[in-house]
Amino acid sequence: MSADRIQLKTGREIEAMRKAGKLTAAARALAGAMVKPGISTRSIDRAVREFIVQNGGKPSFLHYNGYPASVCVSINETVIHGIPGGRIIRDGDIVSIDVGAYIDGFHGDCAATYAVGDCSPEALRLIKVTRESFFEALKFARVGYRISDISRAVQEHAEAAGYSLVREFVGHGVGSKMHEPPEVPNFVSNEHGHGVRLTPGMTLAIEPMVNMGGPEVRILSDDWTVVTADGKLSAHYENTILITDGDPQILTPIEGDGFV
Ligand code: MF3
Ligand code: CO
Repeated sequence: MSADRIQLKTGREIEAMRKAGKLTAAARALAGAMVKPGISTRSIDRAVREFIVQNGGKPSFLHYNGYPASVCVSINETVIHGIPGGRIIRDGDIVSIDVGAYIDGFHGDCAATYAVGDCSPEALRLIKVTRESFFEALKFARVGYRISDISRAVQEHAEAAGYSLVREFVGHGVGSKMHEPPEVPNFVSNEHGHGVRLTPGMTLAIEPMVNMGGPEVRILSDDWTVVTADGKLSAHYENTILITDGDPQILTPIEGDGFV
């Protein structure tokens, strides 16, 4: 993928991205706070949609390639793109919440996995390592590094813990479109090569999808829901970030999430 198709954001665009990121993060926090035993995934979706719209935005996911909801709620062996519906969240579940919001011409995109009540220590460790792998990657989200350095950091951290990385779905540039170049894989490969050099003004969604078992996934007959092939647990963690001359900035920050 050539660097010239990557949209570097200008000052004004960055401020709009910041606004979109804040709205997206607030929606993710709202959804996360609702993740409790007894609640339906549909009620989380409704609350997120209303929150985004009330704040002047549009849910980025709603009708995106026909996706029927404003949030993805991915439980246990579901990796990503779980469609909200009648399913009830139960004690012991791990629940990935993925939200996107569009405002003033730009998108934010973020996700996190939440533990519900009494989860196994193994599940909690998976969530922790997935989140850590994002922050390992962030150390390389700077001028002087390439996309592949981000990919390598995620992969090394998750694999060192005994986990595997999903290959079929990757992080991405984000801006006036939800998915822009470049791709940001969570693994290194000959196919993706080194990737482009990181440049100030790039806005990226870095999103490790980490499986407790093997890396293989399959898609259910609804054509959206991505599950692990072996039925083992999977976790997700994502923020929209800005590459600068210095430290990277998280554009989807959440108070109390450990980095605000
Ligand atoms: N955060 C996800 C992504 O980066 C969510 C997309 S869900 C969709 O692709 F329904 F909008 F596709
Ligand atoms: Co994304």
